[in-house]
Order: sequence, then structure tokens, then C-alpha cells
Amino acid sequence: MEQVLEPSVSSQHSRPPRSASTNNPNPCAPPTFLSAASAKNIFMDRIVIEGGVPLRGEVQVSGSKNASLPQMAACLLAPGRSSLRNVPRLRDTETMAEVLRELGADVAADDDVMNIDGANFSVIEAPYDMVRKMRASIYVMGPMLARLGRAKVSLPGGCAIGARPIDLHLRGFEALGAEIELEAGYVIADGSNMQGAEFSLEGEFGSSVGATCNVLMAAVLIRGRTIIHGAAIEPEVGEVARMLNLMGANIKGIDSPTLEIEGVETLRPISYATVPDRIEAGTFLVAAAITGGDVLVRGARAEHMNAVLQKIIQTGAEVEMHSEGIRARGRLPIHKTTIHTLPYPGFPTDMQAQFMALLCLAEGESAITEGIYPERFIHAAELRRMGAEIHVGRGGDSRVKGVEKLLGAPLMASDLRASAALVLAALAAEGESVISRVYHIDRGYERIEEKLAALGAKIVREKAPTRAAKA
Ligand code: UD1
Repeated sequence: MEQVLEPSVSSQHSRPPRSASTNNPNPCAPPTFLSAASAKNIFMDRIVIEGGVPLRGEVQVSGSKNASLPQMAACLLAPGRSSLRNVPRLRDTETMAEVLRELGADVAADDDVMNIDGANFSVIEAPYDMVRKMRASIYVMGPMLARLGRAKVSLPGGCAIGARPIDLHLRGFEALGAEIELEAGYVIADGSNMQGAEFSLEGEFGSSVGATCNVLMAAVLIRGRTIIHGAAIEPEVGEVARMLNLMGANIKGIDSPTLEIEGVETLRPISYATVPDRIEAGTFLVAAAITGGDVLVRGARAEHMNAVLQKIIQTGAEVEMHSEGIRARGRLPIHKTTIHTLPYPGFPTDMQAQFMALLCLAEGESAITEGIYPERFIHAAELRRMGAEIHVGRGGDSRVKGVEKLLGAPLMASDLRASAALVLAALAAEGESVISRVYHIDRGYERIEEKLAALGAKIVREKAPTRAAKA
């Protein structure tokens, strides 16, 4: 199965770039905060993959994106310099750094360390341009209410994975006594009379990671006792709560659906290391499985990945836990399975697309039900273009009929995890794939092409030419 590097991959460097008109229509992630020149580079980078190489070796998992983002916002709660370690260098963490600076914080990044000084945090407005760049910008609302007593935050709107309301965030703030008005696309909140309260954050699709973190960040600094029922128990939420406690907060029930918070007067700055990214780790394990490879994912934490590990094993791969990480060995044939995404500890929606890529090559028909974002199947159309047989039904149901092989194709990344699925499919496909709009991948995967290349993948990033080079 192992193949020798074909010259065609490196020769792809000479391809003409996509035109500069490849603008990002996705309100989740347009990196417009960049200078025009660097923004063009992001728009135009492409990833070229020659598939068919079993990945082998070791890869280090980066820090968790979804823990880092609220943890960065939480640094606004302390008037002093906090230091976050193991923060992944991603578009999303850069965007959050930019957002915090706009609000008055002093932010300096050095490799994977992010120093954030919240002493001069004074701006109570997160405008549309800020929130539309990245939905997680909404995480500044809790700190604004807690420290500044007011907040004016743009409503984020939907994105490629479907409608993504913030009603649960607002429900929590209102329960804490914030007066909330919606005006011209903005949430305007007066938090001057906030106090502890008991309420539930459970929504139609279960608990909300974002609402739990956001409301928690407000509750720690307001007077009285708050009890949050229906809190999300994703590991990232627990990490945020543990960090807040080390800053001086008083949160009990961490990692459970009921959080009990006794408000404190002030929080102090902190030095804290972010937990490894369970979604990035899972993506590399699937990369091993889909290519018939053998990969040790260093730093992966098995206790956060039960549902994913079980499914990888069900599809036929061998999985071993080691003190330094998790090792997966791909085995043929890939077995069919059923997947139902649910809040933690259920199977994570952020791994659904990657498993769909894997199941495209399984024997028989698999069923995937998306229980968090019923419309999150945007990757199915691109996978079909590679020869996959996928039927997306209504209400979050889809069926994947395994095919013998996928064929490389020009592909378009559309959201973060959909892009990861395309990379995985391309790694296993016969022939060459060229993935455009890779800024979606850069939102959540640190140096993905370098990490995959180190495992033997035939993958290159075609950088867009700089202005000078074009002139
Ligand atoms: C976070 C993750 C994202 C992951 C998602 C679900 C970050 C930065 N992003 O997003 O990668 O896919 O969790 O695990 O951590 N909902 C409402 N009202 C709300 C909030 C959410 O109805 O006010 C719904 C959502 O539409 C969704 C479900 O609740 O159906 C879960 O969403 P939520 O956990 O809030 O997702 P995010 O925190 O936005």
C-alpha cells in the first residue's frame, strides 16, 4: 500500500493561484482583521495532497482551541497580567487576541504562550465586525457584564453549520438580573443589578458549551450564590472553571451538570496551561485509521475521548493507550458503524465530518445522526465529488454507503471540521486533491500540513504569492 512520493506533488507549487475574488462568504470566519496583503494570502492558500500513503510516526497534539478561547476571555476578569500556556497558534486564537486588544487588554503572544493583561479592559462594545469574524467573540459578554456592568454585543447570526442562536447565553444573563434589549442587531445588556440566581441553561439540543462558559464568567464576580443546572460538561468547560477557581473564584460541581458559584469581589491573574485538543487528537487518530497507518498522538487524553475511541475501534482500527498518548493502527477492512452526535460525553459533533470521511471507505452502510447541528453535513457534497455515496436526509440523519476507493479531486473547504474531513478523505484517496479556502482549516488546526507531512503524508501548502512577487 505504501507509495513513493510522486514528483507531481511538489510540482503543484507552480500552479496558478486562485483569483483574489475568492472571498469568504462564511460569517463564522472571514479573517478581515488582517492587513489586505496577508488576508489575500489566507484567502488564496491551498493544500495539495497526493493520497494513498499510510501515515506512520508520532505527532504532538496542540492545546485545545475550544478551551483557549474562553480562557483568553476569562483573563479579562483579572486586573493584571495572566499567562496562558499551550495556546494553539490558530486563526481563531489570533482573532480572540485581536478582540481582547480592541477591548483595552494588553495581549502579547510568544510561541504557545499568550500573556493577557486585563488591567485596562474598559470597552463595553463588541461590534458586528468583531463577532462575525468569529462567533466565540461572544465570550467577552460575560467578562463585560461582570467587570464593567454593561455590554453591547452584536448578534452573531448563523453560519455554515446552521443556525447558531445565543438565546441560552441571554437566558443566563437575564436570570442573573441583567436587563437585556435587542436593538438593530445588537444585544444591549445592563448588568448593574446582577446577583446570584438559580436557573437552567438546558436548550433544545441539550447543554451549551458557549452559554455555560459565558454565564460562568459573569457569575464568578457578581454577589451572591448562583446555581446553574443543565451546564455543559465538555472537558473545555471544566478547564475554564478550574482556571477561574485558581484565579480566586469559588465554583463547585466542576465537570457536573450543576455548577454552584459563590460570587467573589475580585479575581487575580493566573498562569495556566491549556488542556490538549481532543478534536485535533481525534482527527489524527482517524487519519491513521483511514490511511491504514500507525500513529501515536502524543499528549492525547483518553479520558476526554471515550466516545471517539470506541467508534474508531468499532471501525476496525487498533487503539492503544500509552502514558505519552494514544496510538491507532488502521486495519482493513474498515467496518461500518452508527454515529449519533450528542453533548459530552456523547460523540462530539466536531468529529462527525471526519468519521463521515472514514465511513465512506467502510464495508456496508453506516448511519450518522447529527444531534447538535442537524444541518452540519456540508462536507457530504464535496465527499460525493470524490466518489463517496452519501445520502443526507432530514432532521440530521444521513447514510454513508462505503465505496472501494475515493478519487482525488479539487475540493472546497467550507467550515473548520468539514475541511478536516476533506483532508482525511484526500489522504486516503487515489490521486491528487487540491483543497482551497484552507483558511477554514487554519482556524482550528495548527500547522496541519507540517504535522501530516512529518507522518509521511504527501501534502504541501501552496502559499499565495505576495504582492511583491506578483508585481
Ligand atoms: C462549541 C464549540 C464547537 C462545537 C459546539 C458543540 C467552541 C468555541 N465551539 O460551540 O466547536 O461544535 O460547542 O459541541 O467551543 N444553542 C442554542 N442556544 C444557545 C447556544 C447554543 O440553541 O444560546 C444550541 C446550538 O445551536 C447547538 C447546541 O445548542 O445546537 C450546542 O451549542 P453550543 O454548545 O453552545 O456550541 P458553541 O458553544 O457555539
